[in-house]
Amino acid sequence: MKHIKAIYPGSFDPPTNGHLDLIERGSKLFDELVVAILQNPEKQPLFSVADRRRMLEAMTADFDNVSVDTFEGLTVDYALRVEATAILRGIRAISDYEYELQMALMNRKLQPGLETVFMLPAEKYSYVSSRLVREVAQLGGSIACLVPELVEQKLREKMDVAHKFEDAEQIAKKTPSEGKSKSRKKKA
Ligand code: PNS
Repeated sequence: MKHIKAIYPGSFDPPTNGHLDLIERGSKLFDELVVAILQNPEKQPLFSVADRRRMLEAMTADFDNVSVDTFEGLTVDYALRVEATAILRGIRAISDYEYELQMALMNRKLQPGLETVFMLPAEKYSYVSSRLVREVAQLGGSIACLVPELVEQKLREKMDVAHKFEDAEQIAKKTPSEGKSKSRKKKA
């Protein structure tokens, strides 16, 4: 019997419920699915690759045929290395289509034996993206129901650290001038 292995490549910074929905759908369609996190040295991610991997591993622990991995370089090269024959990608709205079509055709040009399979996440996630989740979380909005609880928790921790860092910077900025006024008083 034919065994179909697919990869689901992406940035997953952070992984969302939309990603999880697609992983679940993919796990039913393919015999094996590898969630492959791109290590992109040109991007400054919010979460390290190790953090993203941990989150995705926890999110997918219940799926027997799903694993999580990381890769560098071309997606098609990675797919060949792990002997996958399909690339899974999600399309949420028509706005995703142009970019996804371009990537799929480029990947086909690079490696004609690999098929890109598009799946639609549940409608309730059609507006959810990692970029918006990051932005809303950074500005203090609620991201409940858009990401799994453990991702929400990790985001909250990140924001707390960022706020503490900002507070410390503000204090550090104020301190020298306060120091100056004190030393002026001493001289007088
Ligand atoms: O989650 P993203 O950021 O939309 O995922 C994009 C990703 C990782 C699938 C794409 O950027 C990619 O495949 N990058 C690896 C480098 C590569 O193969 N580039 C050519 C793509 S046609």
